[in-house]
Amino acid sequence: MHKRMIKEDVYWLGAIDWDRHLFDALIPLPEGTSYNSYLVYGSEKTVLFDTVDPEKKDILLEQLKDVEKIDYIVTHHAEQDHSGSLPFVLEKYPEAKVVCMAKCKSMLIDHLQLPEDCFKEVKNGEELSLGNKTLSFHFMPWVHWPETMVSWLKEDRILFSCDFFGSHLATSDLFATDKSRVYTLAKRYYAEIMMPFKLQISKHIKKVREFDPLMICPSHGPVYNEPGWIIDAYDEWGSGLPENKAVVLYVSMHNSTRLMVEHLVDELVNQGVSLRQFDLIGADIGEIALELVDAATIVIGTPTLFGGPHPNVAYAAFVANILKPKAKFATVVGSKGWGGKVAERLVEMLPNLQAEILDPVICRGLPTDEVKQSLSGLAEQIAKKHQELGLK
Ligand code: FEO
Repeated sequence: MHKRMIKEDVYWLGAIDWDRHLFDALIPLPEGTSYNSYLVYGSEKTVLFDTVDPEKKDILLEQLKDVEKIDYIVTHHAEQDHSGSLPFVLEKYPEAKVVCMAKCKSMLIDHLQLPEDCFKEVKNGEELSLGNKTLSFHFMPWVHWPETMVSWLKEDRILFSCDFFGSHLATSDLFATDKSRVYTLAKRYYAEIMMPFKLQISKHIKKVREFDPLMICPSHGPVYNEPGWIIDAYDEWGSGLPENKAVVLYVSMHNSTRLMVEHLVDELVNQGVSLRQFDLIGADIGEIALELVDAATIVIGTPTLFGGPHPNVAYAAFVANILKPKAKFATVVGSKGWGGKVAERLVEMLPNLQAEILDPVICRGLPTDEVKQSLSGLAEQIAKKHQELGLK
């Protein structure tokens, strides 16, 4: 694919990775991803923003074949999917300077062993003239790593946001025209890597609103040529109330936990609570993260294995804990053959959740009528708690 014009003197370059299925050896990519670079021609200086995953370096180098000179390679973030092809681009343009902030420079030296003299270090808010265009650089830590910055192209009112507002989406669309598809994938992306830092991100959103961009160019997924809706969505995901919704995560070994979960889910639906139920054997952890963005209650269902939760349940609890969703309530249901403190063990795994823990329901063997009554009571309690908070 050739480079594509976004507007006069501003181009998209990069690689669409249709076939990548896993990111960071952790995150499933149901719709692939892209690694976006951008090229801006000023009247005096030419700038490349970020590179691509090193696996795709040849695509970027081919797109650059008729670009004679690059003065600056702005590097927003040191993660390899954007910085990994820097050594190859620098080999083609040895006079180019890598423009980044101090923390990013140190990480790039660690990860890529780049020489000190290839850098032009910039400070927060610093401007760089390209002749008829002006860039400025703004420190926005934790979107996604602590060194991340964004770039503002003043005259064109374009924000180059790197991972911020990104989506893991391989698409031939240059712009985010299929809004519902991009919304879901951007929300999933937010859930997977931004949600733990939602407090910092809320502050960054305020800064983005001050820019009032006409376009946002992220490093994954399509360009936002009407960026208002994605900025509003980030606000809602990060700082709005959760919804009248539960996420039910469970594993069952001998059907006891499954019967409990099914009873609880039926009762929650009867009580007007919307929900998603995930059997954790084979579940997509990204799909779970997506649902955690606005769920008010997390229910974990587990059998007892060696006195504790099933390993897949422990994994899901670990992920939910590190993602720090805004759930207000959490509880555990499950079964045991003879003993163990499975509920206590699970609750100990969730220190980051600022959620009220509702009394767990644990039974021995198959659920009796009495256990089912307890589960009905739990569903009623969850629905009431949601109502008291006015959740919709
Ligand atoms: Fe797309 Fe954090 O790298």
